[in-house]
Amino acid sequence: MAPPSDSDDSAPIPAGAISKLLIVIAMQTEALPLVNEFHLVEAEESIFPKGAPWIRYHGNYKGLHVDLVWPGKDPVLGVDCVGTVSAALVTYASIQSLKPDLIINAGTAGGFKAKGADIGDVYLASDVAFHDRRIPIPVFDMYGIGTRKTFATPNILKELNLKVGKLSTGDSLDMSPHDESAILNNDATVKDMEGAAVAYVADMFSTPAIFVKAVTDIVDGEKPTAEEFLQNLVAVTAALDKAVTEVVDFISGKCISDL
Ligand code: ADE
Repeated sequence: MAPPSDSDDSAPIPAGAISKLLIVIAMQTEALPLVNEFHLVEAEESIFPKGAPWIRYHGNYKGLHVDLVWPGKDPVLGVDCVGTVSAALVTYASIQSLKPDLIINAGTAGGFKAKGADIGDVYLASDVAFHDRRIPIPVFDMYGIGTRKTFATPNILKELNLKVGKLSTGDSLDMSPHDESAILNNDATVKDMEGAAVAYVADMFSTPAIFVKAVTDIVDGEKPTAEEFLQNLVAVTAALDKAVTEVVDFISGKCISDL
């Protein structure tokens, strides 16, 4: 008899356990190791509208049906469709079609050493907010920032060696002085380009979402961000994928309220 593989599905699944997991990832480099880890295959028939470059991988892993979506490459420029617009759109379309029980938005992030972040650290975001939606009119200002608490997962935090911090999202890799003061106001430890957008859509459709972010560059350090990001992307992706796998292993067989 062959030894059970990682994707062994023979174990009984407890009633009420999470069954449909959606992983949203912005970059191909971040996505492919997880596609391999979970033995996912690219979906042959797209659930997405014609013309969208979004890619879906799917499969069964430890009693979970896992869909991993990646916004694909810009059809003209050929680079990953990073940022809030693509992240929100692919999350919206995926929720409508797949009706996941839980979303994991996984990716890389810039970290603030003043807040204790170091290269390779993996954070579970406690809160998300935007730092580049400035609307200085009462109430619109709060709408622009869009602060929200993420779905609380005290047992994941107890079990796994993840750091906790607030995540601030904007559509730039670098940081303008305006962004810097907004990030400071958001009390963020990590900065990405998708999280708050995924959270906005997930909240709209009452889908619990968690945010796993690995630090590729130190925003308040000496090195130019783009250079440091590219230098560390592959190595830090390995730390990200290890953490996501641990989170998914923990989720397997559990109810949402057990997280
Ligand atoms: N992803 C990785 N590093 C980042 C940074 N400094 N800002 C935004 N997103 C990132």
